Amino acid sequence: MGIKLKTPEQIEGMRVAGRLAAEVLEMIGEHIVKGVTTEELDRICHEHIVKVQGGYPATLNYGGQPYPMELSEQGTPTHSFHPEGFPKSICTSVNDVVCHGIPNKKPLKNGDILNLDVTVIKNGFHGDTSKMFVVGEATNQAKKLIQVTQESLYLAIDMVKPGARLGDIGYALQKYVEKHGYSVVREYCGHGIGEVFHEEPQVTHYGRPGTGVELQAGMTFTIEPMVNFGKRNVKLNRKDGWTVNTKDRSLSAQWEHTLLCTKTGVEVLTKRQEEHF
Ligand code: MF3
Ligand code: CO
Ligand code: CO
Repeated sequence: MGIKLKTPEQIEGMRVAGRLAAEVLEMIGEHIVKGVTTEELDRICHEHIVKVQGGYPATLNYGGQPYPMELSEQGTPTHSFHPEGFPKSICTSVNDVVCHGIPNKKPLKNGDILNLDVTVIKNGFHGDTSKMFVVGEATNQAKKLIQVTQESLYLAIDMVKPGARLGDIGYALQKYVEKHGYSVVREYCGHGIGEVFHEEPQVTHYGRPGTGVELQAGMTFTIEPMVNFGKRNVKLNRKDGWTVNTKDRSLSAQWEHTLLCTKTGVEVLTKRQEEHF
């Protein structure tokens, strides 16, 4: 089929949705303190998205069907089944949770690290972004993992321009992570995004140079590396059908942006005020 390029009107819609998703992450930071529960964070984000932004949280009840972005070890889709759909409005992945953590009633404690992943739908368009937060004071080890993961996202973003290939971007990201002794999760990846939450292409955070989709101006997609302190292997929680942990229970970090490939390079549609691209 091939990847559809966004029209100028669609790009404008993506800018609006992206900005709103970024705003949720800007808004929630001050609430992430010792003792708060991830359920409370979910409630605050939900209210903000629905009441303040006039949007809708894309994750709520998402995927009561095969989840298309899940890959087998070999990189082919496995389509694991989530009959219920995701039950909350954001994902909160704490410590050794890699992704798709479900907000719950457990209070956060000093030293916890967590990824908060928000996807806002506004006027039919999706903005998808996530960021790491630290509760109180984290260990230097944890802080380093968070920083290297963010740097890996930034170096990948820097490579985005027409003609760049996804295999080259994934390769560079993976090399950077592994140079620091960490590992890249293979089972989940970035994705095309627009009026559909997850669409072509799959954006893996590993790759082979000189391979993969060639980017073109007008493509919108996410890059969202998940990086483990220990081994890359992950384990899906069979009870809730969603939560993904590191198999060795080591810490994991993730950062995500929604991007537009422009004629000259890249526009970060989910840029926060603290960031400069
Ligand atoms: N926001 C996630 C992503 O970056 C997807 C979450 S799907 C959910 O693609 F159902 F787990 F919420
Ligand atoms: Co995403
Ligand atoms: Co996301």
